[in-house]
Amino acid sequence: MRCGGLIVRIGANQLVVVQIQGEPELGRLKLIVPSIGQFFTHLQLQEAFGIQDDKRNISKRMFVSPSFNDVRLILNTAQVLSLARAEEPLKLATFDGDVTLYDDGMSLDSENPIIPRLLRLLSHNVAVALVTAAGYPDKDGHHYYRRLGGLIEAVSACSYLSEEQKSRLLIMGGESNYLFQLSTEKQYEPTGLKFIDPSEWMLSEMENWSQSSKIKLLDTAQSVMEECVSSMNLPAHIIRKQHGVGLVPKPGKRMCREELEEVVLSCNRALVISPDTDHSIKFCAFNGGSDVWVDVGDKNLGVTCIRRYLGGIPAEKSLHVGDQFASIIANDYRARMAACTVWIASPQETVDIMDELIEYTERAKSEAY
Ligand code: IMP
Ligand code: MG
Repeated sequence: MRCGGLIVRIGANQLVVVQIQGEPELGRLKLIVPSIGQFFTHLQLQEAFGIQDDKRNISKRMFVSPSFNDVRLILNTAQVLSLARAEEPLKLATFDGDVTLYDDGMSLDSENPIIPRLLRLLSHNVAVALVTAAGYPDKDGHHYYRRLGGLIEAVSACSYLSEEQKSRLLIMGGESNYLFQLSTEKQYEPTGLKFIDPSEWMLSEMENWSQSSKIKLLDTAQSVMEECVSSMNLPAHIIRKQHGVGLVPKPGKRMCREELEEVVLSCNRALVISPDTDHSIKFCAFNGGSDVWVDVGDKNLGVTCIRRYLGGIPAEKSLHVGDQFASIIANDYRARMAACTVWIASPQETVDIMDELIEYTERAKSEAY
């Protein structure tokens, strides 16, 4: 029987994997999960199952069947195994900010255990980039320095990284709107962040978006947010930025997930049906956990622009780590189109999966000698 794609079946005590090259559109997986995207690499699922089974006792459990989290973690391990063992090494690791590198709304301080792991990646000539929705237009990068100072200082001061390796630390802010690169040159003190002109990294499709169409799109989103605040009596105010508009809770207040999702879906719907929308513009409406944002651009473009800026890194040599993959109303979801991905649920899980990636990479290297 002709069958493309990749099929994963989890039985009572076993994981059965069938991976057949061919035409993924005809595969059973596509039938079962129509929204399934492209797989950029093979996934070493059987071995990954063994690794996670040892950690989580999946096959020894009598009453608790394999869970969503078991599957998520097996897939993460399978992805990093295959990246670590590929003939050509990983070239780019991108990370979401909130929940992935630090707790929601917090900063990456010098004590954060992710720092030594990121230094190790840089020392293996992997470029490391933060790809965050948080958008700040200031060219001196002081807002990003405030969030990431611990990492920037650690990389700048690292004695075993070359200047070239240090320059492979990047920040893409506002999903795909502002690019900064680490520089130890005096003129970029005190933040160490060099603003990179969009002409050096922006895709032509993005350059073609007119200013007035972007403003119209954000105006539409803002008016929907205002309507939602009034119709649901939400304890929130609206923040308008150059490339985004957000509905954020008033101090001391919070909105429930259902309210936040109602706002996201209302914005999405209005932008899809409004005659004012320029449909060539990619935008991202998402629930940030305690707030809602509509940004011009998305993390697919953000990661793609970085790949391009770094000389054309292919998707199968890029990995995006994030917490928001649940559905189209989550903002890391789009990065699936531009890179391999791992889906984490806390900063500790990011540390754990980086440890796996580094361990498998170093083991694969030593076995090659
Ligand atoms: P991320 O998880 O690093 O992508 O950051 C998402 C969070 O950044 C949102 O939930 C907001 O709290 C915050 N944020 C700050 N400024 C912006 C913006 O301009 N657009 C979207 N999110 C923003
Ligand atoms: Mg996040």
